[in-house]
Formats: sequence, structure tokens, C-alpha cells
Amino acid sequence: MLTTRPRGINDILPGEVERWQALEAHIRRLFSLYHYEEIRTPIFEHTELFLRSVGETSDIVEKEMYSFEDKGLRHVTLRPEGTAGVVRAYIENRLFAGPAPQKLFYIGPMFRYDQPQAGRYRQFHQFGCEVLGSDAPVVDAEVITFAVDLFSRLGLQDLKVSLNTVGCPACRPAYEKALVAYFEAHLDDLCDTCKDRLHRNPLRILDCKEEGCTRLAAEAPTTLDYACDHCRDHFSSVRAYLDGVGIPYELDSTLVRGLDYYTQTAFEVIMTQKSGAQNAICGGGRYNKLVYNCGGKDTPGVGFAAGMERLLLILESQGIDIGQEAVPGVYLAPLDQEASQLAFQLAKALRAKDIAVEMDCMGKSLKAQMKTADRLKARYSVLIGENERLGGYATVRQMADGDQTEVPLDKLVIYLEERINHVATEKNA
Ligand code: HAM
Repeated sequence: MLTTRPRGINDILPGEVERWQALEAHIRRLFSLYHYEEIRTPIFEHTELFLRSVGETSDIVEKEMYSFEDKGLRHVTLRPEGTAGVVRAYIENRLFAGPAPQKLFYIGPMFRYDQPQAGRYRQFHQFGCEVLGSDAPVVDAEVITFAVDLFSRLGLQDLKVSLNTVGCPACRPAYEKALVAYFEAHLDDLCDTCKDRLHRNPLRILDCKEEGCTRLAAEAPTTLDYACDHCRDHFSSVRAYLDGVGIPYELDSTLVRGLDYYTQTAFEVIMTQKSGAQNAICGGGRYNKLVYNCGGKDTPGVGFAAGMERLLLILESQGIDIGQEAVPGVYLAPLDQEASQLAFQLAKALRAKDIAVEMDCMGKSLKAQMKTADRLKARYSVLIGENERLGGYATVRQMADGDQTEVPLDKLVIYLEERINHVATEKNA
């Protein structure tokens, strides 16, 4: 127990963490190109926030939240997703008083009591964005374009954008009525959960993964059949923007998403080839009533979130390498206690010149130290033994070919700086 982690959560270890850092750097760079600003909201919120936003009949709220009472007997929940917290922060911090729209992005851990498997965890990470304060279709298109842009810059293949509109409070009731009538006529084929949800939230049935329900969903009335003129116009305008920049998508009338806050546009980016992970990398849509339902002024919003574990698994399965392990430029190999003092001072001086340094702190033999320098892929190792110390020099070994040069200690920093920074400059040129 003490030495094993709870099920469904992961350590991200050195060697792997570099891929996370590289992915995060890609994400931040692209968000800044689209002029989104980062927001960091808390890991837990009042439970009430998720009941109001994600929805009481969603799987997340019904089955998957990590909720508890704190010592002050307040009901709190580890955030299962990022949108609700961003909306709460938008209202609480009066971001609506700033320029509209507010274009916000986030990266961070989320928590769901999901069935753990490849690509599905109980603590997982999302990056996502929320644009608050505009109901223009161009914003829906921008959010979808961002996701596709990021994935294609990473070199991902076999992606598909699924698109739907889920209507608005004006046209949804008629659609729900039609759905209830349709499913009531096929009640025996519904799973127990969907029978239970039929009158509370019939749209959820379209999202059910049980075979009988999926089969029924394929033939069910579609939102577009019932969409009001406003939703219809919005949807065709979003499509026109996407067509204009050549982003392919497929219409999927059963795409309603697992969260209750969506109005109008809903979309997902799905892997078409099986990669061993769950196939939805990202999902999102418009939520024009969410700010209002969470206690703010009526403000439209649209956004998406993507699962980072899934994305990294898919990148790996497609042989796409992002993120290199950190490589020290110099490995310092002191061979006795006095040399260790000298090496420690050299390490400080080299790092001051932005050169990455590792030095032995285990009192290892020369042979063992050279093995370590090789394993770390250091460019140079610097040997300091008794002869070197007494002679006032160090032996610098170029690790690639084993060439050795004696360099006076007072010239060592400049010698290494010239070589390492010179090569770095050439590489950057
Ligand atoms: P979601 O579809 O629930 O949407 O989650 C978005 C993405 O998070 C999924 O496509 C998937 O890649 C990843 N994900 C979800 N659950 C897990 C899990 N248990 N393990 C690993 N990855 C997972 C939302 O969360 C909405 N807040 C998206 C949004 C933002 N809509 C508007 N704005």
C-alpha cells in the first residue's frame, strides 16, 4: 500500500517528463500565436459548481467525481474538467469587465473516477481553451482550427473532426420531445441507465456506448431536423469558416458530448486508426447558457479540451518523437576530495555561462565516471586527479572521439564555453 499508487493515476518520471515539457511548449507557443492568455484555476471547487455546469445527469456527476467534505464540512470536488472553473473565475474576478472576448487557455490535471485503461485514467491532464463573450461563429471555427492546427503541427496522422449542433433552449425542447417519443417506441432495446435517463435527459442516450442504444441512436431524429433558424444559420456559418480554411470534418448527428452545458456547436477530434488508446483526443463546443447558469450575466462561450496522456500515447504509436532528454554539455570527473572542491567551483562558473553540468558526487573510479559521462551523453568530460591538481590543469576529453587535451584551470571555462556555445550558435544558424 505504502509503495504503490492508487489505481488509475501515474507518475511521470524523468525520461518521460521531457516529452510532457516539449508538448506543453508546443501548446503554449501555439496559444500565444492565436493570442490566448493562460489562466490557472484551483484543483478543487465547490461541488455545486459541477452539478450546475457539467449537469446532474451526466456520467461525470453521477459516477465519476472525487467529492468530499473538508474539515469545515464544505462539499468540495476535485475538478473533473476545466470549463466550470474557468467560468467561475470569469464571473468571480469580473473578467467580463475587460475586453471581449476573453480568450483563455489552461493546462493541468483533472480527476475522474473512470475505469482505468490505456488512455483513460483517474488523474489525467488536459489542455484546453475557453473564449467568453462572443457568440460569433468565427470563434467556434477558430477553436476547432486551433485544435486541428496543433495536432497537424505535431505531425499526427489519421485524425477526423466530428461536428454537430445540439441546438439551444429555444429549439431543444421540441427536439427532446421527438427523441423521447422515438425512444419510448423502442424502450426494450435501451440499457437500464438510458431507460432511467429517458425523461430526465434524452440527449444523453445518443452518447451511450451500449450496443442496443448505439443502434437506436443511429436512426434517431437529429438536432438539425429540429434546429431553429438561429441555430441553423450559426451552424452553416461555422461550417463555411471551416470550409474556407480547408479543415475537413464529418457531420455526426449523434455527437452530443458527455457534458450537459453545450448549446449549438459540438465537436470532437477522433483518431481513425486504432492506437491502443481511447480514440477521442479532444472535444468541445459552445455553451451559451453556462455563465448565466453559474450565476453570471448571460454571456456566450465556446471552447475545447484535449487529453494529454492520450495525445502522447498517439504520438508514440505514430513514431513521432517530441522532447529530448536533457544532456549535460560537461561532465566533471573529480578523482579525489580536493578535486571535488575544485570541480564544484568549476560547475558554478560553467553554469553561470549557461552550460549544463553534471559532476560526480559518489566518489566513483575514473572508469565508472567515464561510463556515467557516456550514459548521460555529455559532450566533454573534465578529469581532475592529483597530477592535474598539482599541475594546475584539467584533462578535457571530447566524448565523441576520446580526444584529450590538457587545459590550464584558469582557461577552462572559456575553453569549454567557446566550444560548446560556438557549436550551439552554428546549430541555431
Ligand atoms: P471531455 O470530452 O470530457 O470534455 O474531455 C476532453 C478530453 O479529455 C477527452 O477528449 C479526452 O482526450 C480527455 N479525457 C477525458 N477523460 C479522460 C480520462 N479519464 N483519462 C484520460 N483522458 C481523458 C471536457 O472536459 C470539456 N471541459 C471540454 C470543453 C472545454 N468544452 C468546452 N470547453
